[in-house]
Amino acid sequence: MFGLHYNLERSAVGLVAFIVLVASIGGLIEIAPLFTIDETVEQAPDMRVYTPLEVAGRNIYIREGCYACHSQMIRTLRDEVERYGPYSLAVESSYDHPQLWGSKRTGPDLARLGNKYSDAWHTTHLNNPRDLVPESKMPAYRWLLRDQLQADDLGEHLAALRAVGVPYTDEQIANASLDAYGQANPDSAAAGGVAERYGDATNIRLFDGEATRLTDMDALVAYLQVLGNLTDAAHQPQPEAE
Ligand code: HEC
Repeated sequence: MFGLHYNLERSAVGLVAFIVLVASIGGLIEIAPLFTIDETVEQAPDMRVYTPLEVAGRNIYIREGCYACHSQMIRTLRDEVERYGPYSLAVESSYDHPQLWGSKRTGPDLARLGNKYSDAWHTTHLNNPRDLVPESKMPAYRWLLRDQLQADDLGEHLAALRAVGVPYTDEQIANASLDAYGQANPDSAAAGGVAERYGDATNIRLFDGEATRLTDMDALVAYLQVLGNLTDAAHQPQPEAE
């Protein structure tokens, strides 16, 4: 065994040939599964895109570093499925650029958070977690209610997402800022267009409880309320593990 290596190292051509051979075996093992990716990733014909307000909320989630304490990926382990719900499917992340699976859970996983709490719960909790969970270690994000949402560049965010494969239409991109306003103001004239462009299942509500202003809180709560609800695929029966 060591004799073979000793001899190989003394022959430049033999050593290079052997390195290429060993590296290709490793490469093949990594690449081969990708040939079956179409069969591996589930189909979800009902998958819907994030609305502009939800995209803005997602950007705030990234800006505030929520992913440093919260994962968004339920593993196939029994304790996780019992605590959080059906395990995460690859297709559920297909419009997430970048994905926010996370690698650390100081707080709970958020992959199936949508509709678990009311908008008012989220607003109070984000403003000061200790108002609702006295022993909470989560930071207070008091500026979310104070700061006005920057919504005028949302069309560009949607266009950028389209460039990496999210199927936004020209109309959705052109109306992005208006739709962000409409989704958080159900009584405004802009609200009708949101349901028309994103479907009747879209949440159109006063997320932060106030109609007067569009805040960062509106966007973040709108985003949190759709987590796990872009498709029903994960709630369909999954093939049993063998
Ligand atoms: C320093 C770590 C930390 C950061 C950063 C953090 N959280 Fe938390 N989060 C926690 C902890 C711990 C809990 C559990 C206690 C509680 O409910 O407050 C929690 C709970 C939650 C819950 C309730 C989840 C449930 O299922 O009960 C939500 C929603 C949440 N966080 C959202 C956020 C958002 C949004 C951000 C970013 C703006 C954020 N968190 C940032 C630690 C963190």
